[in-house]
Amino acid sequence: MEFLNRDIVSIRDFSREELENVFAVARGMEKNGYDATLLNGRRIALLFYEPSTRTRLSFQAAAQSLGAATIWFAGAEGTSVMKGETLKDTIETVANYADAIVIRHPYDGAARWAAEITTRRAAKGEKKVPVINGGDGRNEHPTQTMLDLYTILQSQGRIDGLTIAMVGDLKYGRTCHSLAYALGMYSCRIRLVAPEQLQMPSHVLSYLGSRGIECTQHAAIEEVIGEADILYMTRIQRERFPDENEYNRVRGLYRVTRKTLQSAKPTMRLMHPLPRVDEISVDVDDDARSYYFKQAGNGVPIRAALLAMVLGGIS
Ligand code: CP
Repeated sequence: MEFLNRDIVSIRDFSREELENVFAVARGMEKNGYDATLLNGRRIALLFYEPSTRTRLSFQAAAQSLGAATIWFAGAEGTSVMKGETLKDTIETVANYADAIVIRHPYDGAARWAAEITTRRAAKGEKKVPVINGGDGRNEHPTQTMLDLYTILQSQGRIDGLTIAMVGDLKYGRTCHSLAYALGMYSCRIRLVAPEQLQMPSHVLSYLGSRGIECTQHAAIEEVIGEADILYMTRIQRERFPDENEYNRVRGLYRVTRKTLQSAKPTMRLMHPLPRVDEISVDVDDDARSYYFKQAGNGVPIRAALLAMVLGGIS
């Protein structure tokens, strides 16, 4: 399927072939440099209703490297959301100002709704303004998954045949949901490490089952560290818990230290979508297996590839 003017809302909207096409474009940009004229005169709106460092700044860096301008807000404070403006009205308005919209929002489904709004505008004769999901509530974070897969390929040379362990907040963690859905397109083994309260949602487990993926659930990192090729740590997200007491029961449950890594393969790579709180000890940063800052860096080529494909017609 064409990428031009396409919404990027869920990783489930993409085939493995399409994802690999994005990786090829990103790889080409890393190798040959960014065409700073490709998106000259184009404008990208970054609507971040929730905090972000990596997603917002890497989209901004990616846009700038291709010659596009950005308009943005970071946090609803200071916008007319505080006066009661709906998401629909904000999107209807910003679609007049921008050629693409990247949105991060606390509500599951907000990016899909924004994409529907710009599609309806297009049906009435306005230009289609593609919507890119920068993370919607507890639901998905598809561009994070694209850079995660790119990072796995970069560090391990393949995804098929690997054992990938995800640890932490698998219930509310949108990066884990998107990653699990994407891994269902590969032939890998998945290990899920979470406390009872934070297990991977059943719709994701059912999907993995339907794809014939070998997926097992565990309570401790020690049960999986020896066989993992990728250890994907995540933060227990205080802000997603409806009840602070629930959070306090699981905070600090998982922590990777130098001692933990003694049981890991020398070729294992430690990933994390970041930000971290205390789930990876800082003294692990210098271990050759730690890959999370390199992973964060991959946000620029992947997001530049997506902008080039969605707005610049690159394929
Ligand atoms: N990984 C990620 O989404 O990071 P930010 O919240 O800093 O954007």
